[in-house]
Amino acid sequence: MPETNSKEITNPRAKHGFLGRTCSIAAVGSYVPDRVLTNQDLEKIVDTTDEWITSRTGIKERRIAAPTEATSDLGTKAALIAMERAGITPDEIDLIIVATITPDMPFPSTACLIQEKIGARRAAAFDLEAACSGFVYALEIGQQFIMSRTHECVLVIGAEKLSSIIDWEDRNTCVLFGDGAGAVILHNRPDAHGLLTVKMGADGGKANILSMPGGGSLNPATPDSVQGRLHYLRMDGREVFKSAVTAMCSAAREVMERCAVGIEDIKCVIPHQANKRILDAVGDRLGATPDQVFMNLDRYGNTSAASVAIALDEAVRQGRIERGDLVLLVVFGAGLTWGAAVLEW
Ligand code: UT7
Repeated sequence: MPETNSKEITNPRAKHGFLGRTCSIAAVGSYVPDRVLTNQDLEKIVDTTDEWITSRTGIKERRIAAPTEATSDLGTKAALIAMERAGITPDEIDLIIVATITPDMPFPSTACLIQEKIGARRAAAFDLEAACSGFVYALEIGQQFIMSRTHECVLVIGAEKLSSIIDWEDRNTCVLFGDGAGAVILHNRPDAHGLLTVKMGADGGKANILSMPGGGSLNPATPDSVQGRLHYLRMDGREVFKSAVTAMCSAAREVMERCAVGIEDIKCVIPHQANKRILDAVGDRLGATPDQVFMNLDRYGNTSAASVAIALDEAVRQGRIERGDLVLLVVFGAGLTWGAAVLEW
């Protein structure tokens, strides 16, 4: 194994007998819809101000998909970019995992719809639901398939059309979210450390603080459920905020400890883009400098499972991450769920 730029790192997988095989990200791609919805636009829809949204969240604008554009369309566009950058053909992909809370429909899976749209006929395909933590959960699952030698090329996508489940009459939530997608290609690259370790966590005891109660087996769609606004996202923002900071910090510390690296060894922290105040608090507690922590939520808002993938793509495009750099991903979302990962880019 080559040394990183910073220092010798411990690959936690070595003790599990996986030496000689690693799971790396071959390429990343992202796509956001063209339509921009600014804070000023929202002032015309609900009782809010640009000043409130900016000071409480850091968000200035977000992207909104066209009515005819579904989550699978966003995911397909991100996937095609990642595939082109990785130089792979659709036939080389043997597994597609899509993290989303806004699938095109309850079934079939959005992953199957994307499989057809990109022509990856050899690939198995399934969706994964871990809300805003979904992309990191999906990375962990994808890498297990690579490391166990059952699959060679896994397409992991985080894609959301959150505008389809937002209550545009609820100022507490509608200002926060946006649409978009990001995708990575995972493969075995033995000359690099790649994805070093991933932590996933969950606490179903706090399921009620962030949910969409309608549309499932508990509250199927009925005229009453629609009238009761059960098919929209609901959130107790203050409670989510408190849990987010604690869980993200503890997951981040655990993965760094597993790899025997400190925050000073991390080139770029890519947190789930929920709220600038959450990200500042996490960065502070971890001892990161502000320029270590990547943020693009001012332009996209919270895109749930897509957020870390879009941010990773932009960080790479902006030269904030180069080959050999250590990157810390850290996420948090409904479930509650959370997670963190250390990877060598
Ligand atoms: O991906 C994970 C998903 N979710 C999150 O990460 C969200 C985590 N939570 C947050 O980001 C913050 O809690 C929010 C941004 C949602 C809210 O910020 P806050 O500082 O916790 O505000 P608050 O909920 O305590 O509300 C403060 C006031 C309330 O008015 P009163 O009751 O004090 O009179 C709200 O009604 O701000 C009011 N308010 C608004 N005012 C103007 C709430 N939303 C708005 C709004 N415009 N859009």
